Amino acid sequence: MPKPSALLTRAIPGPGIELLQQKCDLIIWDKDSVASRDWLLEHIAHADGILCLLTDSIDTVVLDAGKSLRVVSTMAVGYDNIHVTECTRRGIPVRHTPGVLTETTADFAFALLMTAARRIVEGDSYVKQGHWQSWSPTVLLGHDLHGGTLGIVGLGRIGQAVAKRAQGFGMRILACRSPSQSHGKNENGPGIEHVDFSTLLAESDFVSLHVPLTKETRHLVGHAELRSMKHTAMLINTARGPVVDSQALYHALSHGEIAYAALDVTDPEPLPSDDPLLSLSNCVIVPHIASASIATRGKMAVVAVENLFAGLAGARLPYCANPEVYQPQPDLI
Ligand code: DGY
Repeated sequence: MPKPSALLTRAIPGPGIELLQQKCDLIIWDKDSVASRDWLLEHIAHADGILCLLTDSIDTVVLDAGKSLRVVSTMAVGYDNIHVTECTRRGIPVRHTPGVLTETTADFAFALLMTAARRIVEGDSYVKQGHWQSWSPTVLLGHDLHGGTLGIVGLGRIGQAVAKRAQGFGMRILACRSPSQSHGKNENGPGIEHVDFSTLLAESDFVSLHVPLTKETRHLVGHAELRSMKHTAMLINTARGPVVDSQALYHALSHGEIAYAALDVTDPEPLPSDDPLLSLSNCVIVPHIASASIATRGKMAVVAVENLFAGLAGARLPYCANPEVYQPQPDLI
């Protein structure tokens, strides 16, 4: 029996590549960069499955070219780079990697929270630039986490894991499950106050974003939302860059509408070197690394490979972004 043909858009950590080579005719983009569009379009034409990354746009053009495609597996929990509706229409399951990166991402959101509150990056520059002459009672005063109010926007797996950490730090926790469905019962246990989005923005000292990027959440945080936050508030984004309107954020940070932003994700990624956000001392930016622990990236790779194999075998496994693909589609009947 011939092996299925699979496309891998960049090297992944761990034993994944070896496993793929054993079971598939594997074509890999072998540079340490995002696979080129031309390469993708050329090779998807003969692929039964693709293991892609969040940097690959799997849109209608790619899906049209992928005539024999049976599964799209992405090594990420977010799948806004994939045209899921078009995959469903074509009967192609989309598999992702939720669960394995929850705690690692929550750790990192909390690290950004502490970085923002306690001015860690500024402190590092202060020392390295030679300003540290003596201990000072007034230098680099920050904000306490304990006793502060954390607003969590999006109370899925990662949002809940962030809440658990905040409880340990003695914070008041406000949450809205999603901005449109924000009134809540106490379904995520005690210690979390479910409020609407505008209350969360107005009352939080720290706002941490944990919603997926969708049509509804694009620019969820814009001029009006930033203006409604406290002047001392800090915004943490480990979700997706376009959830925040970058121009509005620059305006808010440079005009004192909010105090600080700590961003793991930006719009676009990477930011061009002349992006105004890079000029701000009250904005810390890191290169989309919230899930980047050695162990977690290894697990994500393994899950993505298993998802690909399951899809190639026609097996119905969890981690499917479009389970409706298994139902007959109206226009295909
Ligand atoms: C994801 O998985 O969606 C993250 O953004 C990268 O780990």
